[in-house]
Amino acid sequence: MLSSLTLASAFLALCIACVAANIARQLLFPNKKEPPVVFHWLPWLGSAVSYGRDPYKFLFAARAKHGDVFTFVLLGRNVTVHLGIAGNDFVFNGKETHVNAEEIYGPLCTPVFGEDVVYDCPNAKLMEQKKFVKFGLTTEALKVHVRLIEHEVVDYIKVSREFKGPSGIVNVPPVIAQITIFTAASALQGPEVRSKLTNEFASLYHDLDGGFSPINFVLPHAPFPHNIKRDRAQLTMRKIYEGIIADRRAGKLPPTTDMISHLMQCSYKDGRPVPDKEISNMMITILMAGQHNSSNVASWIMLHLANEPRICEELYQEQLDQLADENGNLPELELRDMEKLQLHSSVVKETLRMHNAIHSIMRLVKRPLPVPGTPWTVPPGHAVLASPGISANSEEYFPNPTKWDPHRWDNRGIEEDDESEMVDYGYGRMSRGTKSAYLPFGGGRHRCIGEKFAYLNLEVITAVMVRNFRFKNIDGREGVPGTDYSTMFSRPLEPAEICWERRSAEGA
Ligand code: HEM
Repeated sequence: MLSSLTLASAFLALCIACVAANIARQLLFPNKKEPPVVFHWLPWLGSAVSYGRDPYKFLFAARAKHGDVFTFVLLGRNVTVHLGIAGNDFVFNGKETHVNAEEIYGPLCTPVFGEDVVYDCPNAKLMEQKKFVKFGLTTEALKVHVRLIEHEVVDYIKVSREFKGPSGIVNVPPVIAQITIFTAASALQGPEVRSKLTNEFASLYHDLDGGFSPINFVLPHAPFPHNIKRDRAQLTMRKIYEGIIADRRAGKLPPTTDMISHLMQCSYKDGRPVPDKEISNMMITILMAGQHNSSNVASWIMLHLANEPRICEELYQEQLDQLADENGNLPELELRDMEKLQLHSSVVKETLRMHNAIHSIMRLVKRPLPVPGTPWTVPPGHAVLASPGISANSEEYFPNPTKWDPHRWDNRGIEEDDESEMVDYGYGRMSRGTKSAYLPFGGGRHRCIGEKFAYLNLEVITAVMVRNFRFKNIDGREGVPGTDYSTMFSRPLEPAEICWERRSAEGA
């Protein structure tokens, strides 16, 4: 009894000594050669609680105190944040030898995406894989996607219990999550995968998605039930894709011109065709990488439209003005129509601005990294973090940033691509993004390859919802729900209910 008391006291004393040493080090011996550290009481845990609860609030508060560059401790790791346009450039366009994404994201993503793709292969191979996918999203492919996406949304509205009758109330996020998985599967994954979505594939998707639990950033291989299910689902899903590829090669399935077929024709620079296992894992990546972001942004769009029915009516009017025939009938959507729907595009841009789906983008520092314009160097082992959501929600770049105002884009394009700023990391020329405060799809070698598809998907979903329904907030509610940061992707806090009313008795 005595000895366990002594042990407990010794442990307590050790803890107190660690906390005291941690505080003294911060207050008395700051390292002047490195960026200032956000004060934290507890070693190892650091600022994890306040950062995890509301990353944007935490980052804005730290910026108010320390400026655009500072370090905070997150579960034993030093994370150096660089905010603003310069920070976006610092992190996104860091040299591959200096900053590395795969060591940060690999442990979480590789068990979900699978072996030999994305962060489980050399960066040069990832660049080739990104090129294959990006080049598969041709204008011809996008034309087909518009039709497929529209049909999916229309069919969903027809059969869903959530939209029965002339009006009702709907909890937006789960409904939109279903719609976006159907649209992405139908357009990107091909008919076989789409046909499986109603049964075993849906539960596999759910199990695989469990691999994105935030705890997996720290313990990705712990034998938790969700990790066991994740690993089983990855293997089963991969086998399903490999089966589809084998059947297509054997001519047992009708020929298609979708992403699987495109990848089946791709070869690496050394002439090696992409192995079936890698095609399968790339398809799984495409399915998993875009789903949460697209679903969350589409949910925020619906919630803002309900909060500002005036904009919903303007969107409807835009469709009537731009697309309706002489009798006022709206045709099925085409890719060329989407270019005419400027306000629809602004709604998507503005929602991406306010609700940047990924609040923190990180890289691991491999070599001492001087921070331009400061006396500081970020040492190897730190993570560096950019948060384009901060610049996109700062007064200096977007006046009145907390107002959701699609019309702010009326006379403001996304910064024009400056030829001298163009760069090719191996998957096509693109802007370095250095001059932009608006980078919802990131920048540099890890920039999103799904951007074009994502915009189109969101615009078509919005257009179909708007031509079918009017939306408004539930009586007595104002504004949109707060943000839930408890998962990896910022999403609306639930319940996030809105009222809908069908535009015509017969519906669309
Ligand atoms: C609204 C929808 C989307 C948003 C906001 C979004 C955002 C992003 C961002 C910010 C990154 C950069 C991450 C980093 O630098 O660490 C990224 C990377 C990526 N995105 Fe997207 N994305 C979306 C949809 C999609 C879709 C539909 C696909 C698939 C077609 C996709 C595939 C990818 C892939 C494979 C990467 C990893 C690239 C790399 O590390 O090199 N995304 N996305």
